[in-house]
Amino acid sequence: MKFAILTDTHFVARGRKIYGLDPAERLAAAIRRINRDHPDIAFVIVTGDLAHWGEDPAYENLAAELSHLVAPTILLMGNHDKRDAFGRHFPGVARDADGFVQSMQVFDAATVVTLDTLNEAAPNHEGLLCAARLAFLENALASAPADRPLLLFQHHPPFDSGLRYMDTIRLANPEAEWDVIARTRKPDYLFMGHLHRPIAGAWRGIPFHIQRALAHQVAFDLETADHIPGSHEAPDYAHVTVNDGHIVIHQCSFLYDGPVFSLHDQAALNRA
Ligand SMILES: [Fe+2]
Repeated sequence: MKFAILTDTHFVARGRKIYGLDPAERLAAAIRRINRDHPDIAFVIVTGDLAHWGEDPAYENLAAELSHLVAPTILLMGNHDKRDAFGRHFPGVARDADGFVQSMQVFDAATVVTLDTLNEAAPNHEGLLCAARLAFLENALASAPADRPLLLFQHHPPFDSGLRYMDTIRLANPEAEWDVIARTRKPDYLFMGHLHRPIAGAWRGIPFHIQRALAHQVAFDLETADHIPGSHEAPDYAHVTVNDGHIVIHQCSFLYDGPVFSLHDQAALNRA
């Protein structure tokens, strides 16, 4: 199975920019590349912060752009999203019995579980897994087929990353999530967004991947604590292959338009 990951699209109304960037232009470029180069992917998953202010025109704009994607989508909520407005423009997206935007889909190669960590009542954008959402996670982890990898997706990381301001708005209750995992099943891979940087590592033995944002980035700055330092580093989408339990993640810098050449080409090697 192959799939692509995008995150933190931070859509706004058509024609508007955010931090000097047009998210719709960027998503259109990513979709053109994904449609052209990856016709065999099972889905594109977008791990939250779909819209920046969560207003209807932003989701309308996003739905229009995503309609150009050939592959189906799996969409998650992030701290900037609003469930009701999202639902008006994406009525077909799977929700759990409590209305949270989370689901479990079993594919031949892997099981995909998505969590909704949005807490619309939080004054500071931190995430939350309430009792109902933890119960969904517990049921998913306990009932997923044991014979294939389980891939868990959520917007907020349940751990500190070293990005000091972002660490104050991570998942507020990581111990509760860990308790569920510890008594049921460890996911084989954990995928997140939220941090707007490419970050990989392991959390309590679970390998994780944090995707760079589609929109504005967070600068690599492990010192600043009183605000979020931003940057205009180029975005990526991830291309993931899951085959017989073997997981490989590539990054595609889809806005790159510089030269592509053979490393064996002597003329390219010696170019001044
Ligand atoms: Fe974000």
